[in-house]
Amino acid sequence: MNDLKHVAIIMDGNGRWAKKRGLKRVDGHKKGAEVVKEITTYCANNPEIETLTLYAFSTENWKRPKIEVDFLMKLLDIWLKKELPSYIENGVKFDVIGDISKFSSNLIKRIEYTKERTKEHKKLTQILALNYGSQDEITRAVKKMVKNNEEICAKNIQKYLDLPYDIDLLIRTSGEIRVSNFLLWQIAYAEMFFTPTLWPDFTSGELEEIIGKYKIIQRRFGGI
Ligand code: IPE
Ligand code: IPE
Ligand code: MG
Repeated sequence: MNDLKHVAIIMDGNGRWAKKRGLKRVDGHKKGAEVVKEITTYCANNPEIETLTLYAFSTENWKRPKIEVDFLMKLLDIWLKKELPSYIENGVKFDVIGDISKFSSNLIKRIEYTKERTKEHKKLTQILALNYGSQDEITRAVKKMVKNNEEICAKNIQKYLDLPYDIDLLIRTSGEIRVSNFLLWQIAYAEMFFTPTLWPDFTSGELEEIIGKYKIIQRRFGGI
């Protein structure tokens, strides 16, 4: 049976979920945030899983209408404020990958405060990918490596990534079979599951089913 330390999820389909119900796209994002809570709690209570990395806002998502981008930023701020007690209660450490320097100073403060308040927690690390794009991450890593005059090798590139760890299991909801610039380096040997379920309908039960399938795959890593 495969070990499962690091789960990554592309949380997609909030807009379609809302449209299907005659709601606004932002209502899909609100419902999606509730699912983040359910899945995080499940992972915190799964003794094997150490890290849950969630794609929340890509470097390409700035292309969306300003009103939606502004809403997502506001939702994140409200979410972090409201959920801090449950991060504490569930022993969840909060962390971020991506370039958040473009966010408002208030949101940056909120993110840094939440990181600081949860940094000793050991049950699970929840990482939100915010203004994250894998190509941007690799480019920034290579720049740092060259600046520090380090030898160009895979080990050193990985060291400078925002997320210098491998993914075991990658899940994408909403039926799209693509990775949309998420963790291109880290998914080198990840097992991938694509479910048609829209993110707001995703449940810990479905995650458990996927984990059951993941457990029995023969992972070879190039061996036999
Ligand atoms: C994912 O849902 C959430 C973010 C990208 C912020 P979408 O907003 O992409 O929903 P669809 O894909 O339009 O249904
Ligand atoms: C990927 O979803 C980004 C996040 C889930 C944050 P998108 O909805 O932005 O991806 P595409 O545009 O369908 O590839
Ligand atoms: Mg989408």
